[in-house]
Amino acid sequence: MTVEGRRADKAAFCEALSRFASGVTVVSACGPSGRVGFTATGFSSASLAPPLILVCVGKSASAHDGVVGAELFGVSVLSEMQVGIAEQFARRGGDRFEGVTLRPGPVPLVEGALVHLVCGAYARHDAGDHSILVGEVLDCSVARGRPLVHFMRRFTRADDGEASCLSAV
Ligand SMILES: Cc1cc2nc3c(=O)[nH]c(=O)nc-3n(C[C@H](O)[C@H](O)[C@H](O)COP(=O)(O)O)c2cc1C
Repeated sequence: MTVEGRRADKAAFCEALSRFASGVTVVSACGPSGRVGFTATGFSSASLAPPLILVCVGKSASAHDGVVGAELFGVSVLSEMQVGIAEQFARRGGDRFEGVTLRPGPVPLVEGALVHLVCGAYARHDAGDHSILVGEVLDCSVARGRPLVHFMRRFTRADDGEASCLSAV
């Protein structure tokens, strides 16, 4: 594998990254023109002290300015029961919040999610065709259930049966 003067081919890059199994979130905020939100797998923990997370927001996404410009935003980590919500918040056009039950609070959080985070905007970074929004977690809560997983461009389930536990850390 030589890397000098090279950049991975886009299709090879996408193929490689599709093998990185991830949870699925809905990132949302109250923008100047109303609620905005989108499905995101570009989410990660970033720091323990202070408690920081990051989300990658496409610059061409309709929700970009509303989310990246907000002082507060929310992250809902979806459960395996919420594949319909993941699809709805990724769909172009229409009201993504239609028919979705939200938690009362300062940011729109999806009811029934496994994890709810309320974040304050901590830093914003440029990253190619995305912005990296770093959020300081101001409030968080968890619920019982299993996560929705995205792997090889498909929504799937985590098999957390005892027989499949390889190691616990
Ligand atoms: C599984 C999945 C993961 C996604 N992850 C991200 C992400 O991390 N960041 C992002 O900006 N868009 C992500 N998207 C795309 C958005 O959900 C949405 O489709 C995109 O912002 C286009 O929205 P628009 O038509 O309103 O501009 C993802 C879509 C899917 C289906």
